Amino acid sequence: MQEGPIGVFDSGYGGLTVLKEIVKELPQYDYLYLGDNARTPYGTRSFETIYEFTRECVLKLFDQGCPLVILACNTASAKALRNIQQKDLPIIDSGRRVLGVIRPTAEVIGTYSKTGHVGVLGTSGTISSGSYEMEIQKQFPDLHVHQQACPMWVPLVENGEHNSPGADYFVQQCLDQLFAQSDKIDTILLACTHYPLLMNKIRKWAPDHVQILNQGEIVAPSLKDYLNRHPEMDANCLKTGSLRFLTTDSPTNFDQKASQFFGGAIHSEFMHL
Ligand code: DGL
Repeated sequence: MQEGPIGVFDSGYGGLTVLKEIVKELPQYDYLYLGDNARTPYGTRSFETIYEFTRECVLKLFDQGCPLVILACNTASAKALRNIQQKDLPIIDSGRRVLGVIRPTAEVIGTYSKTGHVGVLGTSGTISSGSYEMEIQKQFPDLHVHQQACPMWVPLVENGEHNSPGADYFVQQCLDQLFAQSDKIDTILLACTHYPLLMNKIRKWAPDHVQILNQGEIVAPSLKDYLNRHPEMDANCLKTGSLRFLTTDSPTNFDQKASQFFGGAIHSEFMHL
């Protein structure tokens, strides 16, 4: 296989919060980001649709030479990853790999909690899939997992309303619903790529003693560990430190909004699906 960039996929802008942490941890690699902005949000769509859209985007990233693709999107990781890994990859190209964000997060989340009660906040799709509960129980069978869907949070961020009073209302509402499940929760996982942009509001409405986990900070060291453990895959990943951004919608719109998620100017290119 020819060397290529590490592909990072998200339904839109959100995955840039994950890419940002990955680039901090592993700046020497080349990255190709693909945001499916034309079809975002994924969080409210059916299993079949999310799988079909994600599969299509993964194939595009393979066409662009990516030996390894990270599904930075929790919804895609919850609903499409297993099928892609088990059904598609053996047929498409057994040498390439697709990794998600749920497993690496589930592997460490229990180490953060003292009370043994964690809260997981995500899109309706991620929460209804039960993927976090299932993966966390495998790693930490005694950990209590309390889940809460926050369907309004992605639209707030997508519409640039994450610092508005409207955001206060919806953030408080979901956190109240989460803590009504248990007042023992001492750790909250932001299991959606968009939620780090609501961090100030979440911090404001969550009890002070509760720690809030930003997933990018967990996924980045986990990818580093993966590449150390898989030198054959590491050898396929280009290391010239380049960054390229693709979007399925308007590059102008992408560039305007994307810097909020990534920090720093971005020049994206249109990718036809
Ligand atoms: N990127 C998605 C996630 O992490 C959220 C955005 C969407 O609904 O498409 O779950």
